[in-house]
Amino acid sequence: MSDIRDDVKADFTELFGYEPEGVWSAPGRVNLIGEHTDYNEGFVLPFAINKRTVLALGIRDDGVLRIASSFADEVAEIAIADLTPSALSGWSAYPFGVAWAMGQFGGDLAGVPGVDIYIDSVVPVGAGLSSSAAIESAVALALNDVWQLGFDRPTLAKIGQLAENKAVGAPTGIMDQSASLLGKRDSAVFLDCRSLDAEVIDLGFAAAGLELLIIDTGVSHSHSTGGYASRRASCEEGARVMGVPALRDLHVDDLPRAQELLDDETFRRVRHVVTEDQRVLDTVRTLREQGPTAIGELMDASHRSMRDDFEISVPELDLAVETALANGAIGARMTGGGFGGAAIALIPSDAVSRLQVAIDGAFAEHGFGQPVTFTVSAADGAVRES
Ligand code: GLA
Repeated sequence: MSDIRDDVKADFTELFGYEPEGVWSAPGRVNLIGEHTDYNEGFVLPFAINKRTVLALGIRDDGVLRIASSFADEVAEIAIADLTPSALSGWSAYPFGVAWAMGQFGGDLAGVPGVDIYIDSVVPVGAGLSSSAAIESAVALALNDVWQLGFDRPTLAKIGQLAENKAVGAPTGIMDQSASLLGKRDSAVFLDCRSLDAEVIDLGFAAAGLELLIIDTGVSHSHSTGGYASRRASCEEGARVMGVPALRDLHVDDLPRAQELLDDETFRRVRHVVTEDQRVLDTVRTLREQGPTAIGELMDASHRSMRDDFEISVPELDLAVETALANGAIGARMTGGGFGGAAIALIPSDAVSRLQVAIDGAFAEHGFGQPVTFTVSAADGAVRES
């Protein structure tokens, strides 16, 4: 089987007519727990997955950026001097937005050469596995290397987030880019989204005989519109009424007071975030003390909180979680921003295929579209491949 890394080199050369300077890659991510906590300056526990976006990059002798990919017909082009969010649109806003954001973070783009980039990816799009953060992180690492800007990885994550917020227009947090850039094999990234301190936490799934199954419902979602932004606004309103800089500053024992001060809907949004932060801390402690077989109930509680309090689940995700729990999963929850995308199930290896059959059957019985299920493992973050 040909390797995607060799393929991007060949595709680059065929399209642009010269050999690329190098190849970089960055993974998608799964969030094990800690949903909608990142922009509330709280805690998350994602991991980078063994599905990557790969790019080949060549240096030009002018100040022009050109981007092509396996998933779009056109070659997008812009002069570095013309980079500004309003000039960007479509999928190329992700890579071009990263170049723009590097300037915003103090990178001196005045003298840097233009580049040609060809991108290929096996991170499923629209599944809530951060295909966009994988593109941003691969591009950020590659440009940082060839332009010798000297940004560290946490700053590259912020650069990717700024691109997503301003060039793409999705008001997302720092989790996805951090996971893609800081991930380590067999481990999760325990990130404090206020200080950006990151700790690598051993997952130990394989040693415990467990697999992480992704159940991609096929229900597509977008974080540039609607629900994601309105949840974020509710959280900001909750923090304002409670007199704290961010919901991170509330604890579970502040909830009775929050219930008195907030309307019912805002209170339930706040309760999700406050209890979810606590569940992340509990999951990290449980992984360290008892290993992964003991985290199932925390995953289940996270899903219930997103379904009932934060109201970001959809019937397909709920069915995936229920079916997983009825067929041997030790824990299951929707993952990512919600309103579609994927659920995850932590399950003994020998029960995976039975669950896959059960999921197909349950979706068919409910008249839902055919889901796609596959296992993932925790992988290293973005790297220069060659
Ligand atoms: C999306 C966003 C992240 C995070 C999650 C929800 O993936 O990109 O920043 O907010 O939703 O946890």
